[in-house]
Amino acid sequence: MSPCPHCAFSNPPSASFCANCGRGLTRPPAAKKTSPQAERRFVTILFADLSGFTALSETRDPEAVRDIINACFDRLAPIVEAHQGVIDQFVGDAIMALFGAPVAHEDDPAQACRAALAMLDAIAAVNVERDLDLGLHIGINSGTVVSGGVGSRGRQQYSVLGDAVNLAARLQDAAERGEIFVGAATAQLTRAQFEFVERGVMSFKGKSEPQLVYQLVAAHAAARAPRPLHILTPLFGRARELALLQDLLRANATETALRVVSILGDPGLGKSRLVQEWRSAAAADAANEFIVAGCAPDGNLRAFALLADIARALEARQHDGAADASLTLLRGILEPVTVGGEMDAAALQAQYVNALRAALTHLTAQTPIVLVCEDLHWADAPSCQVLRRVLNTLSNARLLFCATQRLDRETAGWALMEALQELSGAAALQLYLAPLSEQDAQAMVSQLAPGELPVKVRELVLAQAEGNPLFVEELLEMLIERGDLKREGAQWVLTRELDALQTPNTLQGILMARVDQLPPDARQLLQIASVLGREFPLELLERVAAALREPA
Ligand SMILES: Nc1ncnc2c1ncn2[C@@H]1O[C@H](COP(=O)(O)OP(=O)(O)OP(=O)(O)O)[C@@H](O)[C@H]1O
Ligand SMILES: [Mg+2]
Repeated sequence: MSPCPHCAFSNPPSASFCANCGRGLTRPPAAKKTSPQAERRFVTILFADLSGFTALSETRDPEAVRDIINACFDRLAPIVEAHQGVIDQFVGDAIMALFGAPVAHEDDPAQACRAALAMLDAIAAVNVERDLDLGLHIGINSGTVVSGGVGSRGRQQYSVLGDAVNLAARLQDAAERGEIFVGAATAQLTRAQFEFVERGVMSFKGKSEPQLVYQLVAAHAAARAPRPLHILTPLFGRARELALLQDLLRANATETALRVVSILGDPGLGKSRLVQEWRSAAAADAANEFIVAGCAPDGNLRAFALLADIARALEARQHDGAADASLTLLRGILEPVTVGGEMDAAALQAQYVNALRAALTHLTAQTPIVLVCEDLHWADAPSCQVLRRVLNTLSNARLLFCATQRLDRETAGWALMEALQELSGAAALQLYLAPLSEQDAQAMVSQLAPGELPVKVRELVLAQAEGNPLFVEELLEMLIERGDLKREGAQWVLTRELDALQTPNTLQGILMARVDQLPPDARQLLQIASVLGREFPLELLERVAAALREPA
């Protein structure tokens, strides 16, 4: 039997997901934790400090106090891991945790915030269970740090060093019991997903400038997408894709058949934006109804996470009594699965299949439906199995299944779409999004920074973005936000010499998460190549790589 690292439930050795809490049973790879190789990376650091032990020490003996501290840590450590963080160290009554090192995920700053909120709840629960009055205060900050082996030779441990770490520790010091203080960098990256209260500027030891401090109060409901969709400019290009999608809609409204469309492309190329534009265009005739669900970056670790989101989306629409019965069952997915000994995973899956099939059959009988699943590359395998079984039997419904996906071929979502494309044959469509043309990217820059823009800025942004609309937006925003680019009348002026552009914080997670997915050899090669430049002779890369491999 393999115990669940999150809830300790005993699962069969072959299980990938816990039958009790639904979380993944395989821990994220920890191999790099021991790697002493130093590298710079963008990390979110969390310090959580327990308080209230002084009073406790007066009435209990030291062993009892130690047991209580350890019981608290036993509650807090799994919360860090469940949010894809790692414990860096325990320092006295405090925990230091890292999100984004040694392995980056797209939403590390948000995961750190979620973990912090869950930690406060966990300590409140310990207080109730043991009749105690313990407190917790937390500091979170994000920034570029140096990671790798830290310590004297032979005794090195993986850790991170840098200004961002110090500020996280100071924020924790400044927070009172029950408070989570967050630095400006983290708050800026997560403000769409969480509620913050500004606590004003504070001076901290080691920082020459006073820092703006935010208090994390709560998570916004149902905002798990790592990046909300911004519509900052009109849509450029994509006329062909929109026309094809519109054709599919017309067919869906008139003939029964299972239609399947994949919108494919790298992060930021505009998959979600295309869906949004399609929905707006479709709203005019209202012949089809859109139901939109999606996956979060850690979705593949939570069994039935996608199905739960589909249930949420179905529930959110106006529905009548007949659909209610199946929705009640689906709604159960929204709560942590509690099957215990009553029902095995196969029976549970069969129930979900029946419920989803009933709900979709009922809906499509009333009106043609477009079921959109965003970010299918993060979908969990059990949900994909259910979807495959359900859609297999709905070939006579007015149903169009649409997925947005990155080109990650090793995922459950990819396998699902391959199977569905085959199933629906002629009614299947794959739309690969290409980067914007030079002309469209130019037009986008002009829209985002109207007026006269220094040639250097235009060149750097266009070269670095390579037709990716998200990169165009984020690079320009970074320059304006940092004050490097200022508007003076109808002109934009550079306030300092600019040779290259840094990577905006908003893109760090996306880029690092992809680099960290590579096997170690490929990753090292990429690092060498990045030093050589954007274009170089293959021979040069081979020679540098060979020289670095030779022992000194
Ligand atoms: N064709 C376009 N014209 C103008 N802006 C665009 C275009 N495509 C995308 N954008 C803008 O670029 C940003 C990123 O787009 P979007 O979120 O749709 O990317 P995505 O492919 O869904 O990325 P991800 O894989 O991370 O979900 C958004 O602000 C969007 O409005
Ligand atoms: Mg998207």
